[in-house]
Amino acid sequence: MGITKRNGFAINAPPNGTYAHIVGWGMAVPETVLTNDDLAAIVETNDEWIMSRTGIRERRIASERETSATLGLKAAQRALEVADILPTELDLIIVATSTPEHIFPSTASLIQASLGASKAGAFDLSAACSGFVYAVDMAAQSIRARGIQTALVIGTETMSRVLDWQDRGTCILFGDGAGAVVLKGSAGAGGVLSAVLRSDGTGGDLLGIPTVGSLDMDGAETFTNGHQMHKMYMNGGEVFKFATQVIGESVQQALHKAGLTLNDVSLIVPHQANARIIQAAARSLKIDVSKFMCNLDRYGNTSAASIPIALCEALEQGRIHDVDVVVFVGFGGGLTWASMVVQWGAPEPEERPNRFNRQRRQISYTLARWRARLVRLSRQINEMIARSRPQRGRMKRLRSKVDRFDLD
Ligand code: UT7
Repeated sequence: MGITKRNGFAINAPPNGTYAHIVGWGMAVPETVLTNDDLAAIVETNDEWIMSRTGIRERRIASERETSATLGLKAAQRALEVADILPTELDLIIVATSTPEHIFPSTASLIQASLGASKAGAFDLSAACSGFVYAVDMAAQSIRARGIQTALVIGTETMSRVLDWQDRGTCILFGDGAGAVVLKGSAGAGGVLSAVLRSDGTGGDLLGIPTVGSLDMDGAETFTNGHQMHKMYMNGGEVFKFATQVIGESVQQALHKAGLTLNDVSLIVPHQANARIIQAAARSLKIDVSKFMCNLDRYGNTSAASIPIALCEALEQGRIHDVDVVVFVGFGGGLTWASMVVQWGAPEPEERPNRFNRQRRQISYTLARWRARLVRLSRQINEMIARSRPQRGRMKRLRSKVDRFDLD
């Protein structure tokens, strides 16, 4: 890697001179608010305990009609709006989620269809609360390698669907929501400067959601180890220890890789799990906690969505400016953890936005909806026709095929 300079920062230049910039961002959260007092009516807990041990005051809960795909779609549409690009310009969509509706189709494919992103590949990425940082790194690497030009990365969760609402150790922590970013290749220095991704599967039993394919399944709702199918379990104390150990080291590693130090950093956007974890990270890095973005009081832990949601709110609050260096740090199930250094702002003069793009995006979403309906309808009609054909006719056709084959 060579070194280029941008506003005083020496930046490791990718070998082929293409940088991956974040050019759009958006978030979406459900309207329903669940406060600590509401929770106290469900499990034996209280506002004072939750506030003092976690910093969480309330969280959002998805309605019956909301899913990780619908929330992710809304966040994605807002990110495309900010980036002012059309869905057809997307080459890749990655969705980081632990709460998909299906193992497959991926949530990314569902969102791809709803956007009308007809030229994009799409897949889900499973790295729990570190998923968003992992996914941005995958997209940025593809852009820097010039495999693609434009990518959409979404972190989206409906944690409320995998919580055991009897377990006060977990149900008070989590919430639902989605955040998204658009990444674009550019010759201008900056964007994603470095990332460090790590995993330690020996801690896999500390935090998880058993699902189809579990060895212990055998039709039982509760496994021999006490875990429930499709419900989250967590050893809170051990996860707390792990998180406070890895954050500082991981942030330092990513900064070192980017050739920067903590002094260059304007803002750290951490995974929003617990205010005490963020305070411990600030202590271990010997920096003021005000250098961390923190909005978990209003959303709780939204897993893979927490970093992009916090990023959107930091931007909205004017806490990030052009050329600022921002660090993302995620940690969670796997165990996994990841840090990323990003230099903010598009380094090139903005192209004049096409004033018809907004309408074109709306048309794309409407057409995508109708296209999906038509494709499904025509498939159903074809199936009905095939089923209504008399069996004898089918046998006759089969026999004539065999006869033809014999003659050949
Ligand atoms: O996304 C990444 C994954 N998750 C995390 O990062 C979570 C990491 N862990 C944590 O944030 C904390 O460990 C928790 C918030 C989950 C728990 O906080 P803690 O300070 O570690 O509490 P604890 O589990 O040690 O429990 C302390 C006491 C216990 O009572 P006793 O045994 O001292 O009488 C618990 O039974 O608090 C009790 N307790 C509660 N009391 C009221 C546990 N949960 C609750 C509750 N309300 N919700």
